[in-house]
Amino acid sequence: MGRLKMAIFASHGGSNLQSIIDGCKIGVINGEVSVVISNNGNSISLGRAQKENIPYYHMSNKVFGDEDKLDDAMVDILEQHSVNLIVLAGYMKILGHKVLRKYKGRILNIHPALLPKYGGKGMYGRYVHEAVLKGGEKVTGVTIHLVDEEYDSGAIINQCQVKVEENDTVETLASRVLGREHTFYVETLKMISEGQIKLWS
Ligand code: GRF
Repeated sequence: MGRLKMAIFASHGGSNLQSIIDGCKIGVINGEVSVVISNNGNSISLGRAQKENIPYYHMSNKVFGDEDKLDDAMVDILEQHSVNLIVLAGYMKILGHKVLRKYKGRILNIHPALLPKYGGKGMYGRYVHEAVLKGGEKVTGVTIHLVDEEYDSGAIINQCQVKVEENDTVETLASRVLGREHTFYVETLKMISEGQIKLWS
C-alpha cells in the first residue's frame, strides 16, 4: 500500500495521536503523521504536534465562517500535505461532504467498544463505558472502522476484545480500553501500511 501520509484529526487529549506519532518514529508504521487538525484551538493534540514539529491547524467553522468554507479549506490543507489516509482519533465533529467524498475509503475512526453495539450519536467518552457496564457485558473492546456520513456506521476494518472485570467502574474500564486503543491503532496502521489490510490498491 506504500508509505502512509496521515492527517490525524483530534479534538481533545490526543493520546491516540501520540501513540501513532511514536509508532511512526520507531518504524512500526511505514509512514508519517503529515499534519494534525483540531476543531478545538485549546486541544492538547495541537501542542503534541508542535512539540514533534508536525504542521498543525485549528480548523473550525468559527475560524472559517461556515461549514462549506471549512470543508474547502480542509481539502486544501490535506492536498497541500499530500495526505493519503485520514485518521480520526477522538475527533468530535462530522467531516464535510467534500472531504468525505474525496477521501472515501481512506478515513478511519476508532471507537472504544465492539460496534455495532454501543455506537451512534451520543455514544462517546464515558457514555460508552457506562452503557457497556449497564448492559452487563463480560467483554468490550475496540473497533476501527471506515467513516461515512453517519456516526460509527462505516465498514469495520479491525476489532479486538477487552475483558470487563467484575469490579470495573466507568473509569477503570475506560482506562483499560484506552490503553488497548493505543496499541491497536498502531497495529492496524502497520497492517495497512504493509498491505495486510487493503484499503486501496
Ligand atoms: C478514544 O477513546 C477514542 O476511542 C474516542 O475518543 C477517545 C480519544 O482519546 N473516539 P485521545 O484524545 O486519543 O486521548
